[in-house]
Formats: sequence, structure tokens, C-alpha cells
Amino acid sequence: MSYLTKNYNRKKISFIRGKGSYLYTANGKKYLDFVQGIAVNSLGHSHPELIKVINNQSKKLWHVSNSFIIPEGEILAKKLAKGTFADYVMFQNSGTEATEAAIKVARKYFYSIGKPKKNRILCVKNSFHGRTIAAVFASGSKKMTEGFGPKVVGFDHFKFGDHKSLNKKITKNTAAIMVETILGEGGIKVIPDWCLKELRKICNKKKILLILDEVQCGIGRTGDFFAFEKSKVKPDIVPIAKGIGGGFPIGAVLMNKKTASGMTAGTHGSTFGGNPLAMKVGSKVFDIISNKSFLKDIKKNSSYFIDKLNAIKKKYPKIIKEVRGRGFLIGLQLYEDQTNFIEKLMEKKLLTIRAAENVIRILPPLNVKKNELNSAIKIIEQVCSTY
Ligand SMILES: Cc1ncc(COP(=O)(O)O)c(C=O)c1O
Repeated sequence: MSYLTKNYNRKKISFIRGKGSYLYTANGKKYLDFVQGIAVNSLGHSHPELIKVINNQSKKLWHVSNSFIIPEGEILAKKLAKGTFADYVMFQNSGTEATEAAIKVARKYFYSIGKPKKNRILCVKNSFHGRTIAAVFASGSKKMTEGFGPKVVGFDHFKFGDHKSLNKKITKNTAAIMVETILGEGGIKVIPDWCLKELRKICNKKKILLILDEVQCGIGRTGDFFAFEKSKVKPDIVPIAKGIGGGFPIGAVLMNKKTASGMTAGTHGSTFGGNPLAMKVGSKVFDIISNKSFLKDIKKNSSYFIDKLNAIKKKYPKIIKEVRGRGFLIGLQLYEDQTNFIEKLMEKKLLTIRAAENVIRILPPLNVKKNELNSAIKIIEQVCSTY
């Protein structure tokens, strides 16, 4: 009997230990973990440098209130600002807090320049920005909002890829367009670079803000530090989380100077956000992932892996419909429901996770080894051959 609520459909398996790309059960079974906490453990399990950092800091200081200066947070904020489009950073603890805070930043900016009615956020229908009450209504998904009324107002929606409807939905009250640069839960759907460029142009023309949710696709996952970098587009606000903590809960909102101007003292806060323990871990993760040769390896290894997946798709064209994604944010879209396929992969000790549109999400750690990629390929091919 479990005393946990039933809001997860958990697999009947648990793990006692993790190392790099692998998870181990109590009876010694070893699984290749290509879920990694859903793109959270960016450097795999038990990374020695992260263990060292957390051990050292745990002996010094875990938590102090944000009423005091936190030097460890100043350092990480500086790294994030100097290394990216951002001028300012606001720390949180999770992705959904970061996306909600991003909405607050956008609204407060317009309020502070005397345009309080410019407060509506335009999002992709059935996207994913988290599970808090505003974030589910931002997603516009019936499945996520049903039963959680009254409706949180202030969000408009357009269909992914429907540019006509996007333009139609922008009104004088639109404050921002908020999209995931690559839709994760929605089925690993990449917004093409030209679309991101168009989005930026539309936002400039209409004088609205561009929020790119990089909670899942950011922090090196695509081989660039941010997924939007490839398009050369500069967003105004970017919520991040997952990968920046390498398994430790950290969220943040990155923003440019203009949008940060509304966030004066007392406008937002978080008890846990930006504590010294989290900041030390985040700093180390940032140092490792932002290294140019580390990012280059992600591009090289992921394109090797994606080529192999495409070869399997070519061999089994009736099973695999499409190989989607970029870097190590990969979706294997099947023609049929993917549940059984995921089970079969698990029986052969490869862990993957579902996304919408019959997609199997494959999320190796960013420092995955070539022989581990080869093992995964072998398993996927074996499952295809017995399907
Ligand atoms: C794009 C995106 N935004 C926000 C979130 C919410 O993050 P969290 O679960 O940390 O609240 C997620 C989580 O999957 C996500 O993929």
C-alpha cells in the first residue's frame, strides 16, 4: 500500500543507485537511463565534480534568506549573464516557477511603462509550461486544465505552425508570445529557425516581448547552450530549470535589461530560490556544459546517434514514422501508440519516456559515451525486429 497520491502512473520499478548513464536496482539489475529524470541529470548520475561541490558546500552553508546578499548566486548570475543574451537573472526552484515568473516579468514590464492593459500572453495550444495553476492554463490543454477551474484568464492560444492564427490572435493587449523553442512534452517538435526569426520580427513590429521556454531544451541539450542560439534570435525572457541543476532543483528566469526594469524590490521572491547549495551546483554545471568543446561533442555524438536512428527508421519504415529533435533531445515517432515499444525497450534494460503524438523521448545525459549510444541503438533495433 502506498500513501502517495495516485497522480503518477508509475512503472513498477525503483532504483537504489546511479552512475553516469546507468541506474541500478536493489537486486543489481543495470539499466541504460535515457530518461535522466526527463532531461534533468544533464551530466548523468553521481557526477564526481558535482558530488565534490555539493559535499564541500554542504559543510559551509546551505540556505540563507534572499534578504541578504548571496555571493554564490551573484557568481552564477554573472556567468549566465556574461555567457548568454541575458542582462539579469532571477533564481527559482523549478521549471513551472520559472515560466510563471517569466509571465510576471512580462506583465510587470508593461505595467511599469504605463500600459497595464497589455497583459495577455499568447501561447501554443497544447504546449507545456508546467503544472501550477497559471502554467496549465498557459498550455491551453484540456487534459491539464480539466477540473481545475475557474479558468485562469489572460492567455490566448494559436495552433503550432498556424501562422495566420498567430497573427490574428495578437491584439493591442498582448504583452508577450511564449513558446517552447522545441516542444518537449508536445512530441519533440522543433520550431524551425526561420519561424523563430519571424516570431522575433512580429514581436518587434508589434512591440511585444518574446519569451522562449528553454526549461527542457536549454542548457546544452541541443548542442548549443540554448536551443534558440542556432537561429541567432535574441529573446527578451527565457525561463530555465532542469539541466542547469544537474539533478539539484534549480530554476531561473533570464531577461534583458529592458524587461528587468519592472522587477523592483518586493515584486517577486522565492524562499528557496538561489540558495548557496543550489548556486554552487548550478555554477559547476554551467562551467562544464558551457565549455565549447563539451558542446561540440554533444553535436558530434548526437548527430552520430540520430544518423543511426534514421538508419533504423529506413529499415523499419512501417514502425518508425519520424526521428525528431536536435542534439540529445530526440523523439522517435511511431505509427502506433508507443506504450508497448517503451515496455519492450525497458525489458531489454533501456529506459525511455513517452511524449505526445506517439513519440518515444530519448534523453541521454549530455556526456553519454559512444559505446552507450551503440548499446541503445542495438536495443532499439532488436525491439523493431521483433515488433
Ligand atoms: C518546457 C517546459 N516548461 C516547464 C516545465 C515545468 O518544469 P517543472 O516540472 O520543473 O516545474 C517543463 C517540464 O517538463 C517543460 O518541459
